[in-house]
Amino acid sequence: MDIQLTNINKHFGSVHANRDISMTLKSGQIVGILGENGAGKSTLMKILSGYQPADSGHIAIDGTPLKFGSPLKALEAGIGMLQQDPLDVASFTVLEDFIYGQPPARRTSGKAATALLRAQAERFGFHLPPDAPVASLSIGQRQQLEIVRLLALGVKALILDEPTTGISAEQKDILFGALRELATRDGMIVLLVSHKLEDVIALCDEVIVLRGGRLVGDRQMPATTHELVTLMFGQQLTTHERPKVALGEPDLKLDNVTLRTRRMHVDHFTLHPRRGEVIGFAGLDGSGQELILRACAGLEHPLSGTVSVRGKPMNGGRYRDFLAEGIVFCAAGRVEEGLIAGMTLTEHIALIGQGATIDWQASQARADAQIKHYNVRGTPQSEIQQLSGGNQQRFLMALLPDQPTVLVLEQPTRGLDVDSARYIWEQLLLRREQGASILFTSPDLDEVVQYSDRIVVCFAGRTTEIADASQVTIDELGRLIGGAF
Ligand SMILES: Nc1ncnc2c1ncn2[C@@H]1O[C@H](COP(=O)(O)OP(=O)(O)O)[C@@H](O)[C@H]1O
Ligand SMILES: [Mg+2]
Repeated sequence: MDIQLTNINKHFGSVHANRDISMTLKSGQIVGILGENGAGKSTLMKILSGYQPADSGHIAIDGTPLKFGSPLKALEAGIGMLQQDPLDVASFTVLEDFIYGQPPARRTSGKAATALLRAQAERFGFHLPPDAPVASLSIGQRQQLEIVRLLALGVKALILDEPTTGISAEQKDILFGALRELATRDGMIVLLVSHKLEDVIALCDEVIVLRGGRLVGDRQMPATTHELVTLMFGQQLTTHERPKVALGEPDLKLDNVTLRTRRMHVDHFTLHPRRGEVIGFAGLDGSGQELILRACAGLEHPLSGTVSVRGKPMNGGRYRDFLAEGIVFCAAGRVEEGLIAGMTLTEHIALIGQGATIDWQASQARADAQIKHYNVRGTPQSEIQQLSGGNQQRFLMALLPDQPTVLVLEQPTRGLDVDSARYIWEQLLLRREQGASILFTSPDLDEVVQYSDRIVVCFAGRTTEIADASQVTIDELGRLIGGAF
């Protein structure tokens, strides 16, 4: 199979999201589509997989022109895409999702489908119990389900849009193993869309870099980190246009903290985030930053050392004890940990409301007000999973207490478009001006450099600190997260 894209253009109003993009993809290749947020990656992939039409240009598969804007035609031609937010149906079981994801003509009996599902899961080491409700799956498992479903549809080109965001290191290994197998054994074309260098370096044979809607580079791997970073960001320096905030005393203190899990240990870590300070954690997925953030909110307990808030020891405290001190945690898996699928916006508000009884009228009014204030596209009666990712994240912001002392955020802009991400940061920086400390992780180095006062770089559980984030370049940071310290 050979896919040819020629001079693809796409505008959204005044945004020129794809500019004259041409490329050729061949069977058996794993191609990375790399670029920072907003570069135009998802747009291009949605065009290729038929989810949206291009303004101009052509796509041909083995020389046959493909009709734009029809996912079904793209699927029939063998192109399938895993969306940034999975398309599965939360109320189904794994098996039901698998069966109903097939066109009616191809739907098989439960027995045959179960056998196929099991065989595929076994082949790739996926964990997909047929009877488990889809709503109970992790992001990684939902991806696995989507992959198996697309394979059963006979796709020969598989597009994955930011698939490693929000999945565990272990699930990423399994995913990458499956993708390698599909390319080398089955001769599939695998397209990995990512803004994470380490992902394309780990997996891809070839990397195509987009910047500002243009294709700015096409490299056979291995290419150097430096070369890819320069292609992604150009040479321009990141601007630091944030209001200055006078830093206050620290509320939260981690002193000499040692953390251990089966896969990771962090030794003797000390951090005193000051009021008004933004501390960004940079590191490849699973380098220890997740563990440290969780320890800041009582979700992981140190083996030794102390965690304290305003002098009060908190070791062994639970999240609700931390919350009572104004320390708020937001998980990367929005719908998995922060929000509850199947519940309406009003129900979410009611759930976090204080007091022993629920005042539905007040909850509804508050939901209404928060929806307006945070520009959430939804109604108090919308169920949370009906909202787009950007609107879910806006609503999550609306659920934060008004005066947090420390905000601990895992990947606060995961999967968001540039405008939603900017909006989230406006909100966060407001909290900072009110004196909150902000700790966050991001796979996006640009985001870390842009918003942090101080940066903690993690690599395999080791940490190093960049005391003044304005003094670091993306390039340097890229080397540090690769362990060069
Ligand atoms: N449906 C849309 N409506 C308006 N603008 C959009 C839409 N989809 C994408 N964009 C804009 O197009 C640009 C490229 O977006 P996208 O392809 O999602 O980038 P990436 O996936 O590389 O982060 C961004 O400026 C984004 O805001
Ligand atoms: Mg995208």
